[in-house]
Amino acid sequence: MTIDTKALADKYGTPLYIYDFDYIENRYTTLKDAFAGKKSIINYAVKANSNLSVIAHLAKLGAGADCVSIGEVQRALTAGVDKYKIIFSGVGKRDDEIRSALEHDILLLNLESEAEMKRVELVAKELGKEARISIRVNPNIDPQTHPYISTGLHENKFGVEIDMAKRMYIYANKSEFLNPIGIHFHIGSQLTKLSPISEACIIVADLVRSLKAIKIDIKFFDVGGGVGVVYDDEVTISAEEYTQTIFEATKGLDVTLLCEPGRYMVANAGAFFTKVLYEKVNDDKRFVIVDGGMNDLIRPSLYNAYHKIEAVQLEDKEGNNEKTPADVVGPVCESGDFFGKDVPLPPLSHNDLIVIHSAGAYGFTMASNYNTRAKAAEVALQGGEDRLIRKRETYDDQVRLELEYLQK
Ligand code: LLP
Repeated sequence: MTIDTKALADKYGTPLYIYDFDYIENRYTTLKDAFAGKKSIINYAVKANSNLSVIAHLAKLGAGADCVSIGEVQRALTAGVDKYKIIFSGVGKRDDEIRSALEHDILLLNLESEAEMKRVELVAKELGKEARISIRVNPNIDPQTHPYISTGLHENKFGVEIDMAKRMYIYANKSEFLNPIGIHFHIGSQLTKLSPISEACIIVADLVRSLKAIKIDIKFFDVGGGVGVVYDDEVTISAEEYTQTIFEATKGLDVTLLCEPGRYMVANAGAFFTKVLYEKVNDDKRFVIVDGGMNDLIRPSLYNAYHKIEAVQLEDKEGNNEKTPADVVGPVCESGDFFGKDVPLPPLSHNDLIVIHSAGAYGFTMASNYNTRAKAAEVALQGGEDRLIRKRETYDDQVRLELEYLQK
């Protein structure tokens, strides 16, 4: 992104999230083009960035949505995603969420346990409906990523083993209220190697073949999300390599291919802007204290994730402009409140800007109000224009649900 950082920070204030919508469009079309010649739907993983305008932007391009709560399903519908392109996954769906998803008639409920399947059957029966379902298979593959975002091993809570999946399909196929038409897996996030994806695809495609052999006709083959992006100097997977791997594994199967990219679509579309409040040195340790905190962007604190940090000095500093290592920290009352450690930065002063890159995915969506800090504003850049897509929160927004109960 080449943008006038200072002008945007002045116009909208900080801390601030900025998303480049042209970049998102480019990512979508690159991936969609790599599926050319095959039936496919790109179900954007709403959890990565669920701003309504982001979802609407992707919906207009033809994207569907992968959701993990009824709230996300509602966001997708509000943003204009076609209901037949919405999938609802997650290990713990409540009855009311199941009911609502069935009433909205979305494409698929993706089931993660036998117990959940029985629940969905019951709710569908109550509604007099047949639930279109897919089953999340856990192929027991090590995705070679961070343990917190690895999901495809038996030790993870997600999905069911192959044998269980088969039993569930047989049961569902006999049920009046279940229609098993999809299969799903998702082995982890920030995947930078193709081999685990390939292995998982092959295992799951074999299962589809054995199901088709017993007349259970799987129509949707969902490979989940997880394609990694460049935060630092990672070598990651290209759209073509990704789709070729999927085509190879599913050769001969008449299925619509679904995928659920989140990070791939939005991570590098986004940046987080925060202003320098103060500098200080404790012993020999230099700290740059900024106005954004771990409540705004928790990835460094939670996963020790790397985000490139860049300083924008507002005026040329006279004399020594040498970069020295500094920890970039926020105002939150936790030692874990940092964006980067030992980051080489020039001397900075009050109101200089810090840009934290690759913040478009799992940034704002994981933000909280910890320390009664208002959530940041969000801005879209598109065709050279900028526009607000979420107002900065206020104190009043935060206490609205409490005030009426206050007894003094
Ligand atoms: N589909 C399913 C079923 C998922 O669980 C996820 C992510 C995705 C798709 C999208 O994955 P992606 O394409 O974005 O890798 N908060 C963590 C990431 C958690 C991912 C959870 N599931 C982070 O900040 O790295």
